[in-house]
Amino acid sequence: MRTQVAIIGAGPAGLLLGQLLHKNGIDNVILERQTADYVLGRVRAGVIEQVTMDLLDEAGVGARMHQDGLIHDGVQICVDGVRHRLSFKELTGKSVMVYGQTEITKDLMDGRVAAVAPTVYSAQDVTLHDFFGDNPRVSYRAEGRGHEIACDFIAGCDGFHGISRKSVPPGLISAYERVYPLGWLGLLSDTPPVSEELIYVRHATGFALCSMRSPTRSRYYIQCSLAEDVEAWPDERFWEELKPRLDDEARDRLVTGPSIEKSIAPLRSFVAEPLRFGRLFLAGDAAHIVPPTGAKGLNLAASDVRYLSRALIEHYQEKSADGLEHYSARALARVWKAERFSWWMTMTLHRISDNPFDQKLQLAELDYLFRSPAAATAFAENYVGLPY
Ligand code: APR
Ligand code: PHB
Repeated sequence: MRTQVAIIGAGPAGLLLGQLLHKNGIDNVILERQTADYVLGRVRAGVIEQVTMDLLDEAGVGARMHQDGLIHDGVQICVDGVRHRLSFKELTGKSVMVYGQTEITKDLMDGRVAAVAPTVYSAQDVTLHDFFGDNPRVSYRAEGRGHEIACDFIAGCDGFHGISRKSVPPGLISAYERVYPLGWLGLLSDTPPVSEELIYVRHATGFALCSMRSPTRSRYYIQCSLAEDVEAWPDERFWEELKPRLDDEARDRLVTGPSIEKSIAPLRSFVAEPLRFGRLFLAGDAAHIVPPTGAKGLNLAASDVRYLSRALIEHYQEKSADGLEHYSARALARVWKAERFSWWMTMTLHRISDNPFDQKLQLAELDYLFRSPAAATAFAENYVGLPY
């Protein structure tokens, strides 16, 4: 088989790239290790920047998001039982959309089926060949047989544990990493959200987040230790741990109920550099990870895909190598700013250390955020997404 761009991974990065290339007449094949149902079963964050919304519209998959998504003009931050509101709309003129990543993935998968573009699910042993030369290839096994795809370019959109980044000779890639000594225990339930807007909670006993998927579906998180086992957290225990971290009003309004999903996610910051190796390009979680505080993961995957899709379109339509040559530097400039913001939100809202000095600094950061219009504007412009 031959294609122009072989895309590894059918997460949001790979699917969105495939859709944008297809719209511009560029052939592509997606190879995904898991089944479509497995990919759709993963629950992830759900806050979409305006620029990500625009890109989903450009890919032709934004209709359901506009119909079912919730526009949020601000966010709330609760510090030791006292709630504050920051209005993005007033501070930046922009808003964000609350719409689950699972739904976006579904919309992208439906778009791909409608475009009759090839996706191979359950592709095993995906292997990248000769990407430093002019004729790269990707081999894989499916339904018990070996296959090979010849292509012009390979897009490594296969997430943090994927094969693309690992295929690069170690001496050619640098990794920058911070692992936080904590995780998020998340619970999804068919109960009305506690508030119209998200509430990020800084509490002496640890971070919490009240989020939502719809007016009848809530998503809550509490900070937990990395040693926790989700089996040790019956729903009742989760709710009892969440309640004392909330303010009185939120506690009164909290409707508890059975969980639909519950899982623990570790928190990590990671960036690989560069993002281009000959004819291989890394994008999304394959290249970088942010802790979920601030919900930048999907938005960063989308911003990489925006730069990469434009670069590939430029290559095919204008015979220009400029975009491909600058992809890595352009994408990384935006990545590092989101890394900084996610790290800052994580360090400011979690109980990371027992040192009272660190805790006093957190409170000073937050007090400054609520009192200084300059600090509030800086927060808001990062939360709604920096311009490209
Ligand atoms: N071969 C083929 N596919 C693979 C391989 C492999 N060796 N390894 C991983 N994959 C697939 C995974 O099964 C997954 O479906 O690549 C996909 C990567 O998807 P994501 O992990 O969702 O990464 P990405 O598309 O970059 O999306 C980033 O999603 O992971 C969240 O929090 C993250 O919001 C961020 C966004
Ligand atoms: C979520 O709704 O899952 C969510 C929202 C905001 C975050 C992280 C996760 O910062």
